[in-house]
Amino acid sequence: MSKIPVFIDCDPGADDILALLLACNMPQLDVVGISTLCGNVEGDKTFINAKKTVGVIGKDIPIYRGADSPMFRELITGKNVHGEDGMGGIASEIPTPNINDNSEKAWDAIYREAKAHNGELVLVAVGPMTNVAIALAKYKELPSLLKKIVIMGGSAAYGNVTPSAEFNIYVDPEAAQILFKCGAPIYMLGLDATEKAVLLPEDIEKIGAMTSNQAKFAYAILKNTMDFYIAHGHAGNCMHDPCAVLYIAYPEIFTGKPAGICVETKASITRGKTVCDMYTDIKFGFENAYVMTDVDRDALAEKIIEIIGNY
Ligand code: RIB
Ligand code: CA
Repeated sequence: MSKIPVFIDCDPGADDILALLLACNMPQLDVVGISTLCGNVEGDKTFINAKKTVGVIGKDIPIYRGADSPMFRELITGKNVHGEDGMGGIASEIPTPNINDNSEKAWDAIYREAKAHNGELVLVAVGPMTNVAIALAKYKELPSLLKKIVIMGGSAAYGNVTPSAEFNIYVDPEAAQILFKCGAPIYMLGLDATEKAVLLPEDIEKIGAMTSNQAKFAYAILKNTMDFYIAHGHAGNCMHDPCAVLYIAYPEIFTGKPAGICVETKASITRGKTVCDMYTDIKFGFENAYVMTDVDRDALAEKIIEIIGNY
């Protein structure tokens, strides 16, 4: 079976790191590039965190730096979840590999890899959509060059950073609007599914019993963010970003439906809300995304433990 070429745009961040650890070790995927941007923490830190993570993975995967601010707004970070360093406080314990910084910007690398893969590239975006939006604005043909865009972001029902909005969309609503209007096939792993995609304490302890460096790194990351999720009423650690990469290889463990989506960019209370036309009588008249609404949690946890156990 030929591997699926994947380019991951992220803001590492604990769950981004787990998504990278999984994607780079799943036999179904070929991660051809990683790009980073500001989001969970500042752009300089997310870039370093991606380098540290690729260093632990031990594969030669190019990393490209992107935006250091949202398109039109001040950066709001997720340090309350991911810590000042974006790794829950352990970044100083993880060596930064001595790899050359790519001078090519994220948006240019996304376009170049899309062209090189002749319509087969899957673009994964698990941070704010700023890099993706800049790529779409700069290269009008990009939507036609991508197989699909799989995002962690948004929600049909509620928010996490506000009652209306999910963090990735909230940070850069204008970028998200550009994404949803671009015409490429979009698959949205929003909170409706990802907040059900919980690794329970017993799942995490199975990873804690593993001995590989990658497993130990994953365990440390999971333990360092568990308290936040438990304190906010979750049964365990929400696997937001891992859902995006797992969807590509295991779509059958997710449930979803097509929907029309628009992003609120003008209001304040509802800033960044992904207005999903899923249950209404009068429809938008278009369906621009496939929105995940549920996940088989047990199957997801089993896959994550299996992949990490195979490091
Ligand atoms: O709302 C969850 C999303 O925001 C995840 O991508 C997490 O890493 C943060 O970026
Ligand atoms: Ca993220």
